[in-house]
Amino acid sequence: MNYILIGFMGCGKTTVGAELASRTGLNMIDADQEIERRQGEKISEMFEKRGEDFFRNLETRLLREYADADHGCTGLVLSAGGGMPMKEENRILMHRIGKIIYLRAEADTLEMRLKGDSSRPLLQKGDRRERIETLMSQRQAVYQTAADLCIDTDQLTPGQVAEKILLHVM
Ligand code: S3P
Repeated sequence: MNYILIGFMGCGKTTVGAELASRTGLNMIDADQEIERRQGEKISEMFEKRGEDFFRNLETRLLREYADADHGCTGLVLSAGGGMPMKEENRILMHRIGKIIYLRAEADTLEMRLKGDSSRPLLQKGDRRERIETLMSQRQAVYQTAADLCIDTDQLTPGQVAEKILLHVM
């Protein structure tokens, strides 16, 4: 079985994914890091030099690869990029890959966790709190509908979130 963590930037997908992997022995793949590694370029550079669509196509290509039955990919925790579930094709591919777990967090929590971050191109312009709220309003329902399981993470440590996931889906 594979598990895919989705949710807004700063919700803890990467940290929780690492916790899950260390508790279960599953392989952890962070989609953003994998794309950066393959491309030899930071996401912020990709957005700047090649545009967002270029990055979005790489996200879909990565998912197609993992969804491909011949790939033989099992025993994986995939930490998705925050925008990945927004494309319908990606959601279909994710469901084919494994169970989708939405790590939900309030705007206050996200704002706090994303303070000072300069690696996320979508948060570099304008008022950060406003950007978070606008994007969240566009994304929340999509995350929620796509997910097999939803966990409220605001009051939990990454380890506690991992334990909850283990309890419910593993
Ligand atoms: C994005 C989220 C980022 C990264 C890119 C775009 C988004 O991933 O994929 O900056 O559209 O929400 P994280 O959610 O891991 O920060």
